[in-house]
Amino acid sequence: MTGDELREKYLIFFEQKGHKVIPSSSLIPHGDPTLLLTSAGMVQFKPYFTGEAVPPSPRLASCQKCFRTTDIGSVGNFKHLTFFEMLGNFSIGDYFKKEAIAWAWEFVLNWLKIPKEKLWITIFLDDDESFGYWREIGVRVERIVRCGEKDNFWGPAGETGPCGPCSEIHYDFGEEFGCGPSCLPSCECGRGRFLEIWNLVFTEYYQDAQKKRTPLPRKNIDTGMGLERTATVIQGKRSFYDTDLFVPIIQRVSQLTGRKYGETEKADRAMRIVSEHGRAVVFLITDGVIPSNEGRGYVLRRILRRAALFGRTLGLDKPFLGEVAKDVISKMGHVYPELVTRRDPVLKVIGTEETRFDETLSTGLSLLNQIAEQAKGRADKKISGEDIFKLYDTYGFPAELTAEVAAENGLTVDIEGFEKEMEQQRERARAAHKFVGDPARASDGVVSLLKSERQFVGYKKLMHKSEIVEIMINNQPVDFASQEQEVEIVLQETPLYGEMGGQLGDTGEVRGLNGSILVSNSVQTSKYIVHHGKVVKGRISKHDVVTARVDKERRLDIARNHTATHLLHSALRQVLGSDVHQAGSLVTPDRFRFDFTCETPVLKEELAQIQTIVNEGIRRNLPVTKKEMPYTQAVSEGAIALFGEKYGDVVRTVRVGQAKAQISFEVCGGTHIDRTGDIGFFQIVGEGSIGSGMRRIEAVTGRGAEKLIEERFSTLEKIAHELQVPTAGVEGKVASVLEELSAERKRAVALERQLSKESADSLLSQVESVRG
Ligand code: SER
Repeated sequence: MTGDELREKYLIFFEQKGHKVIPSSSLIPHGDPTLLLTSAGMVQFKPYFTGEAVPPSPRLASCQKCFRTTDIGSVGNFKHLTFFEMLGNFSIGDYFKKEAIAWAWEFVLNWLKIPKEKLWITIFLDDDESFGYWREIGVRVERIVRCGEKDNFWGPAGETGPCGPCSEIHYDFGEEFGCGPSCLPSCECGRGRFLEIWNLVFTEYYQDAQKKRTPLPRKNIDTGMGLERTATVIQGKRSFYDTDLFVPIIQRVSQLTGRKYGETEKADRAMRIVSEHGRAVVFLITDGVIPSNEGRGYVLRRILRRAALFGRTLGLDKPFLGEVAKDVISKMGHVYPELVTRRDPVLKVIGTEETRFDETLSTGLSLLNQIAEQAKGRADKKISGEDIFKLYDTYGFPAELTAEVAAENGLTVDIEGFEKEMEQQRERARAAHKFVGDPARASDGVVSLLKSERQFVGYKKLMHKSEIVEIMINNQPVDFASQEQEVEIVLQETPLYGEMGGQLGDTGEVRGLNGSILVSNSVQTSKYIVHHGKVVKGRISKHDVVTARVDKERRLDIARNHTATHLLHSALRQVLGSDVHQAGSLVTPDRFRFDFTCETPVLKEELAQIQTIVNEGIRRNLPVTKKEMPYTQAVSEGAIALFGEKYGDVVRTVRVGQAKAQISFEVCGGTHIDRTGDIGFFQIVGEGSIGSGMRRIEAVTGRGAEKLIEERFSTLEKIAHELQVPTAGVEGKVASVLEELSAERKRAVALERQLSKESADSLLSQVESVRG
């Protein structure tokens, strides 16, 4: 039975038992901030188990793409896979232990034809109920092993979620593969006599962040059968690399390297690593993960580079993973059609990342060997944090990879030292970020003059009375300024927003008893807000009490654009995958731009879809709620925060939509409108690449969009007028004019040829006559 047949049979079997077959969800868990990647079949059904959502049927079955990051360094031996497929049947408050056990047994014995003598069962310590059901269907007492929490209690997937005791089915390869006659499925000898093929979880509890378990509203079933493992058993193999799920990929690697699988253990292991990671990389990128230095992107980068490195040891000195990927796509595309539709962008991402690593790989490797040699000579046999960091920072070697190579050489690594180096680098980046382009010019002495901690009062107020605490002319503090002078002033409290986080500063007016200033810009320096402007009337002095007023229309234009960036961010993640991250933005009154990470070009249809989603969000006129909360709370409630930004303990959050049905939730200090309807209309005006893995969208909203549309319409009307057709006829007219033009051109060319031929002929005839 092939892997494909196994997958198909499983789903048919459970369909016959009244289950609705649900397609695999993405490897990027949707709306689940507790999980990096989808690690089990039940992940997409979590809200059904907890009662937060109603399932389409109480009985569900699926074949789920899964990824587990534990033991990446062990992939290459025979036990671990990063990416795998999990077959599963689920009961949401419907059937429970009795049916789950009986059906699993029926499928394994009658459909897979695995002999009963080859099977063992484990159950949770005191689960006499399951024990009874296994006995009822004919399992011998000595084949049922009781195990503790470590082996037979499953979940939750992530920090919190549904979990419960479980019962597993293990395949026995035979006593000769174990550690002796007393070897059991729970044995830790690691020899691989037993292989767990199916886990039946009796999902009864919800575990919270404090690890407290409370009963779920109903009792559920969540089972998981490893496709690769089960294929191994039914195809009579010892390892999944020998099943039809892997053999073709290994063969391709063999072809590329000219090495035969089975010759030396070292090369075999490298071939397994390349095959396994090559397959995993394709699935990750297809689901929207792109290589980066954090989170999922880092997992991807790590396995891709690990594969590249092991490819090197097989003699592959040029990027090759794209070739492996093509094979994976053609082998598995019929099961996961998204592999086929995203083939080109996936190959491109692989190519870019592998090439990037390849450029430094040789130098990095020789440096690593040199470092390893030196470490061997030292007493502690340890690679320093500084060296690991250098390999990481300059040559792109994931620290784990360095650790692996070190271990192969009998060395250890100073990971703590490496972390310290990383922290120092982050610190340097933050410092650079603070001072480069920091418009602070006011003297630091000003700070002491600010009495209140909170200088900005403009979230709620657009007009505010306060005191001038500093005036500067040409960077020099002064006591007063007179008409026509350019000044920078600092107010005790101000309603004018200072440029920060991509949002331009407010303009407005500061008016006192003796004079007023027109504020042309406001910036947030590292410590306070500075207003730039000109004294337009009278004179203003330090300690004057003044009224500061924000230019309201302009502020509203900016707010519309700022809220629109949040809607756009959410739409981008919805359409392109949640690994799209904001990389920067510029919010002005007229338009805004939004930079984001994305390795592949955005298709035209995707862009249209993104625009539609944003406009739908606007028409739904959703509330935009701003709230302060501890940073940790914001993040645990799923707020998106910019990576690399340093936030205070308490942050401001901006939520679009009601808490339970929000469409966006971000940590953000900007100013926003109150309802999405205020944005009016959103129009993308441009999209394109701005460097490796980075793209930019430019857009307009509200009055900016109105202006753009007016301009476009008036251009169209002018053209229509020139062409003497109604605007609706412009397209047809232009097409026919162009057609005429091209026909004319052809005629002209033909005429020219004709003429030059004629004149040549006449010249020739003259030649003839001269000769004659
Ligand atoms: N969730 C369980 C597992 O991953 C069973 O599906 O093993």
